Amino acid sequence: MTPPTNPYQAVTHADPYPYYAALCARGGLHRVPDFEPWIAADAATVQAVLTSEHCRVRPPLEPVPSHQRDTAAGALFGQLVRQNDAAPYPRVKQALADVLPTVMQAVATEGHRQAARLFSKPLLSRLPERTLHFPVFVLGSLLGFPEDTLEESAQDVEAYVRSVANPAAVPEGAAATARLVGRATASLQARPRASSMLDALAERMQQVEAPIEALLPNAVGLLIQAYEATAGLVGASLLALARMPDLGEQLSRGECSVEDVVREAARHASPVQNTRRFLHSRATVAGQTLEAGATVVVVLAAANRDSLVNPQPDLFLPRRAARRTFTFGLGAHACPGQTLAVTMASAAVERVLASGLDLTPLSRSVTWRPSTNARILGGLS
Ligand code: HEM
Repeated sequence: MTPPTNPYQAVTHADPYPYYAALCARGGLHRVPDFEPWIAADAATVQAVLTSEHCRVRPPLEPVPSHQRDTAAGALFGQLVRQNDAAPYPRVKQALADVLPTVMQAVATEGHRQAARLFSKPLLSRLPERTLHFPVFVLGSLLGFPEDTLEESAQDVEAYVRSVANPAAVPEGAAATARLVGRATASLQARPRASSMLDALAERMQQVEAPIEALLPNAVGLLIQAYEATAGLVGASLLALARMPDLGEQLSRGECSVEDVVREAARHASPVQNTRRFLHSRATVAGQTLEAGATVVVVLAAANRDSLVNPQPDLFLPRRAARRTFTFGLGAHACPGQTLAVTMASAAVERVLASGLDLTPLSRSVTWRPSTNARILGGLS
């Protein structure tokens, strides 16, 4: 097997972990041939980059991807907390981070309901598509989207996601974005109220003096953020169960829970393998001087396997003590949906296991969705 030559290639490589171990062993910010960005791969450097005030989430001259500019998709992108560092977005983030934990019970209940709907009689060939639909069905429902629009909403999220990376997909992505925002608007205006989660977000944003115009984009943003990442977590967990039959035995002996497996899968095979940061001015980060305009690829999946923070990092230990997981980011842009993601993924995995589906074919060769940052099951090869 030819090893990957850069962190973007590694995302969909059959086994990127020896390559990540080599990046991690180099330590500090460094570069590899024929690849422009700087690389952060060991835990200390990843932490330093993600907590540095100099490392921003968007390139200085491109707050919105240029091909999305002046479209509904670009307007949404430009108002997401994920894509902004400056005021007032930290206040919007604050509201999200305050409200999401309060809807945990509803997420668990809806997660089980939608998992029963999607995974009771799954075909292995439909699993990748269903795992992508699943977080949109759960969160769309909690946002008050009518049940009969959830399938189309999942397709709309897919169209938006495609439009971020692909200029040819922008017209479709823009139309899909308008429909998603339309559904969120209708939910907010519905009487009787359609979504206590949306109401709670609106109320909290007012309390923390966040601009209310950011409510609907960031409500739709929850579907977007959750989409591939949660599907990836369900896939990583099922793959672990398929490839390590002993895990199933540990589960049936009650030595660990499905949630333990999901949490360790998040560390061991991070669905979000990397994220990026951009320098707006010359600065020193992790002891390295970086020029204005520099890009840093932060390899979360490599940091998860840094033996300095997780001893014997290649072992899959559902009850791992003092686990350090970089999968959900850290610092100002850390994922506020981590607990929700684990709860949803656990509900999906439980339901697939209960269905009796034979996962063995997953232990052979699988394909991954084309991506430079997310490792998401594409199908069986
Ligand atoms: C396995 C599932 C998930 C993974 C691996 C994941 C991972 C991440 C990561 C790595 C970031 C930080 C990106 C960066 O700093 O560059 C992030 C941000 C974010 N995530 Fe998640 N996420 C997951 C699920 C979810 C879910 C279910 C939600 C919502 C319910 C969510 C909402 C968000 C939001 C709003 C942000 C932006 C935070 C900010 O920029 O301040 N995520 N996520």
